[in-house]
Amino acid sequence: MPPNDKPAVEHRPPDRRKFLRTTAAGAGAALGLAARSYASVPGANDRVRIGFLGCGGRAQAHIHLITRLAAETGGVAAAAVCDVWDGLEEDYDHKFGGTTTRRRYSQGLYPSAAKCGLDTSDSRRVTKDYRRVLELKDVDAVCIATPDHWHARMTIDAMAAGKDVYVEKPMTRTPEEATAVQDAAVRYNRVVAVGVQTLADPVWAAAHDLIRGGRIGPVAHLSAGVFRNDARGQWRFYRLVSQMSPKTIDWDLFLGHQFDVNGVKLGPSPHEVPFDRAAFAQWRCYSPFSGGPFTDLYVHQVTRLLAATGLRFPGRVAGAGGLYQEHDGRTVPDVGTLVADFEEGCQLVVTGSTLTAYPTEEVVRGRFGAVKFVKGGFQVVRDDPTGGAGLPQRLERSLEPTSWVPVDPPKNETEALWLNFLDCVRRRDRNTLSSPDLGAAAVVAVALAQRGYRDGRVYAWDNERRTAVPADAAWAAKWEHRARTGTASLSPPEYMKLAGPKFATDEHG
Ligand SMILES: NC(=O)c1ccc[n+]([C@@H]2O[C@H](COP(=O)([O-])OP(=O)(O)OC[C@H]3O[C@@H](n4cnc5c(N)ncnc54)[C@H](O)[C@@H]3O)[C@@H](O)[C@H]2O)c1
Repeated sequence: MPPNDKPAVEHRPPDRRKFLRTTAAGAGAALGLAARSYASVPGANDRVRIGFLGCGGRAQAHIHLITRLAAETGGVAAAAVCDVWDGLEEDYDHKFGGTTTRRRYSQGLYPSAAKCGLDTSDSRRVTKDYRRVLELKDVDAVCIATPDHWHARMTIDAMAAGKDVYVEKPMTRTPEEATAVQDAAVRYNRVVAVGVQTLADPVWAAAHDLIRGGRIGPVAHLSAGVFRNDARGQWRFYRLVSQMSPKTIDWDLFLGHQFDVNGVKLGPSPHEVPFDRAAFAQWRCYSPFSGGPFTDLYVHQVTRLLAATGLRFPGRVAGAGGLYQEHDGRTVPDVGTLVADFEEGCQLVVTGSTLTAYPTEEVVRGRFGAVKFVKGGFQVVRDDPTGGAGLPQRLERSLEPTSWVPVDPPKNETEALWLNFLDCVRRRDRNTLSSPDLGAAAVVAVALAQRGYRDGRVYAWDNERRTAVPADAAWAAKWEHRARTGTASLSPPEYMKLAGPKFATDEHG
């Protein structure tokens, strides 16, 4: 980037000492995420015209929402659609678990165009090539809901063409792409929302206030889990239909091998991955297109826990797991754990499996208490370190919360996130509830865990150079140095005065 083209915003996470001070000492003020209004309704005079890039399953929810808002408020309009597949609309028998239900399948280019009220023969607005949509002067913003490997390229190109962007999660597939998107948002001054819809729930801002206010003391540990079990195999529940064929799908544009971000190709060539319906419709099972559970699932938990604590980029990330049972040719794990350590002095663990469904809690743990997230708010559980370390190895009874903080979730989180995005678009406010800075931090955690799982390495994130480097002994050495030179525990016992090297002349030898 040329020197005068530097980002005008600070990409650094909150200062470590400031983080400890505010989480420990009751500094009250919320940083970053304020509980901004998500309920403002677009006015009739400032219509935001949306182009949809990628019109598969998830995009149908966005199209439905935008066309409904268009009819109800006139504040938005669906202006163009793009998908590499012609698409299909049909009713079919859905057979699963011994029952058959009649369902409607409707996705891809032409069915989506029809839902948007577009003329399906208008090749400027109904196209397989996203660049045609970006050429349209009357498209103000795009909604990107392609597979993950396209997110960064399309987001950057859209911003360069003067469009604001609602991009589905994960914001990008790699950390390198994430920083490129972060910088482009600043360079082109565009509004971006990353589609982690739970961020529209004010619960994270409320928890953030409480945590930064010192209620649970310095944060030490955060954890969450994603456990699922589906007899068909995770992501194999996405249908393959015979209408998906090389004739109806632009396979080159799906793969993205002729496109790159900073010299790294988006996807494999057709020689490496010849046309395959499973790769097309169940792309989450294959590592060229997806990071499996790390990037597809854990990104939700990681993003909201970062929002709740005010943490951003991790200092070191490890990923572990395996492909233990789902031996169906996939290349992403079915059991996986992400461990992200932060310069602020705490650790985030997100673990899970697509083989078993028993859930885990979503908790932020501090020295004096824990915040446990439950639908409709969060519980605060007291932790009294003066009771000693002898807590039971096994839980003998449920922990009693000391308080319950109810926070009303929005009725429809995706709608709430869209309304916040549209509001920000009109006010030219880049600080959406799900900003690219937060999106990039989450991608660094999930994508480095995925990368580390696959190549067997642990990665450090160099926050000055904004790049991933192999981890080494420096992380532990840094903390050991701080342990020698810093302050000790909450109340060190008297007898600790007797610790350390002693000379023969000391009392009692
Ligand atoms: N926020 C959420 O809860 C949520 C839920 C589901 C999916 N998602 C995200 O939405 C995105 C899409 O997921 P999905 O389930 O809809 O997948 P999908 O496979 O159903 O849809 C993807 C669509 O993109 C099209 N496509 C592929 N390459 C394209 C290109 N170069 N140009 C235009 N179109 C292209 C495909 O033809 C397909 O129709 C993913 O990034 C996923 O992570 C988010």
